Amino acid sequence: MAQDHAALPTKPTEIVPTPVRPGIDLEINGEHFRHTGDPAMPLLWYLRDVLRLDGTKYGGEHGDGGADLVLVNGKATSAITTPMSKLAGKQVTTVEGLANGKGDLHPLQQAFIDEDAIGCGYCTPGWLIASADLLNRIKEPSDNDIDALPNLCRCGCQTRVRKAIKRAAATMKQGAKA
Ligand code: FES
Repeated sequence: MAQDHAALPTKPTEIVPTPVRPGIDLEINGEHFRHTGDPAMPLLWYLRDVLRLDGTKYGGEHGDGGADLVLVNGKATSAITTPMSKLAGKQVTTVEGLANGKGDLHPLQQAFIDEDAIGCGYCTPGWLIASADLLNRIKEPSDNDIDALPNLCRCGCQTRVRKAIKRAAATMKQGAKA
């Protein structure tokens, strides 16, 4: 059926629709993003489903085991329990952003390879993020410091993880002197 256009206004109405949501601006791995979807969306799903950054893993709805850790303003934070609404103006670093972007691995990534601290690998991104946070706080962590991290590895790599973190700490100390 033909539409009756006669009823439509002939001049622009000056009605400017307001966006439904203003958006949440944040930085992820050094790039700016604006999330305009549901503010309650967990960061983990934004990373994995929207940005396709799938290094960060799902470890349950409470983030147990640390597989879902990312750095938020440098602090290890659960991506599944952090909604996008809490991230306005924040800087997020995922495991993909740990390396320097010039092809060099982060000392922790290299140390995990060198110490063969990766079994199935599912928990590894979380370990790397938690360890980066740890080494920001404690330059030479003890076994107790490492064991206090919330991460779980069901492949039994903990002993090699300890060695890897200590190796990375030594590399970073050496790098700081150079
Ligand atoms: S390497 Fe498999 S769970 Fe840690």
